[in-house]
Formats: sequence, structure tokens, C-alpha cells
Amino acid sequence: MKVTFKIWRQEQSDAKGALKSYEIDGLSEDMSFLEALDFLNESLVLKNEKVIAFESDCREGICGSCGVFINGRAHGPHDNMATCQVHMRSFKDGDTIVVEPWRAGAFPIVKDLVVDRSAFDRIIEQGAYITAKTGTAAEANAILIPKEVADSSMDVAACIGCGACVATCKNASAALFVSAKINHLNKLPQGQPEGHKRLLEMTTQMELENFGSCTFTAACEMECPAEISISSIAEMNARYIKAKFFG
Ligand code: FES
Repeated sequence: MKVTFKIWRQEQSDAKGALKSYEIDGLSEDMSFLEALDFLNESLVLKNEKVIAFESDCREGICGSCGVFINGRAHGPHDNMATCQVHMRSFKDGDTIVVEPWRAGAFPIVKDLVVDRSAFDRIIEQGAYITAKTGTAAEANAILIPKEVADSSMDVAACIGCGACVATCKNASAALFVSAKINHLNKLPQGQPEGHKRLLEMTTQMELENFGSCTFTAACEMECPAEISISSIAEMNARYIKAKFFG
């Protein structure tokens, strides 16, 4: 198949960027979207042109590194799917496909389609862990956890930290990501001793990183590859009020 990619090219964060067109033929509809970008880069190498910088690692929807806007949608044309899970059969022969980096003040562009998502790392550092004694691991069944609690924790633990929630939100809010990282620990007995501290420190860091406020448009829920529900944000807000005002 033959398509025209219009891809955001930007040498570095303070340089001026622009969309550049590339016509490419010989793609297979069975290629993943990232393989199509690899194919394009190989053709640029042969022409002695600079390759397009983009991120990927696992290429199976686990690591969260691959996010870009495809034709104006975070991660492309499908709901709840990472960029690396999109295949070229999602497009038609002759299509023009516009590819841009995440757009959010808290995610500055590093180069082309690569953005700096270290703001997420700094939020994680504030409390997305539990403090446990080293030594022999405790018997796995020593703390009994009701299945519905374990399931609900696992639902939010599925967050891959890709940043699509921020990029697609008109306010560039990180509420879905932060709520997932707080709630998956705060729901479980092992996470509760540090629960209030975790919640207050992670939400404070979120504010320091200049993410916007959540206004519950639910755009994040639609684009989240892990299908995390905005009910996670409501739960975080309820826990926040409890932690802040009732200790
Ligand atoms: S490359 Fe890992 S989620 Fe896409």
C-alpha cells in the first residue's frame, strides 16, 4: 500500500517545528504502525536524510513509550489501544496520515515525535511504592484480600504511563494517571499505612509539574490503552478530601 505521512519534525525543544510530507510505497497492511515508521526511516537512511525520532520499546502495549497523535487522535484511530498496537490495515491505500507528538506543556518536545515525560517519573517518586521490611517474603496468603478489592486494584494497576490521558485532555490534566498510581496501592492493605501521605505528596507534585485541572470530560478514559475508568479520579478526589481535612 501507498500512503503519505505528514510527520512533525523538530530538531530540538527550542527549535521551530513543522509538518513534513513523505510519500511511501510498498507498505503491507499487516505491518504495525511503528514498522511503517521503521520502513520510512530505512528509506530516509538510504537517501542520507535524517531519520524521524520516535519512541518504542515493547511494541505490545505494555511499556507506554510509543504514544503519538495519529490524525488528531492520541494513539490513532481506535479507542483504548497503544500506538504500537495499531496496524496499517486501519488505514486505506492512498491515505494521508498526520503524525504529531503529544502536546502538553508538562511534556516538552525533545525531538520530532519524542517528548519528555519525566514529570510522570517525578510524581511516581513521591509515593508510588510501599515501604516493606527486607528479608524473607511473607506468606502470600497471610493477608486475605477480598477478590473484588484485588480486582479493582489490578484494574488501575494496568496503567502503562503512556501519557495519552494528558495529551488528549483539553486541560492537559494528569488526573487519570495520578489516580491510577495512587489507587492501586491505597486500595490494598499493604498500601494503606502510607496512603494519606502518598496521596498528598503525589497530588502536590502533580500541581508543581503544571498539569491542568480535571473537568471530567472523560476524553482520557476513551484513549487510555489500559481502559482505566474516570471513576478512579472520583475515588482519588474522595480520598483526597478525607486525607486533607480529616487526616
Ligand atoms: S512500545 Fe510499549 S506500549 Fe507501545
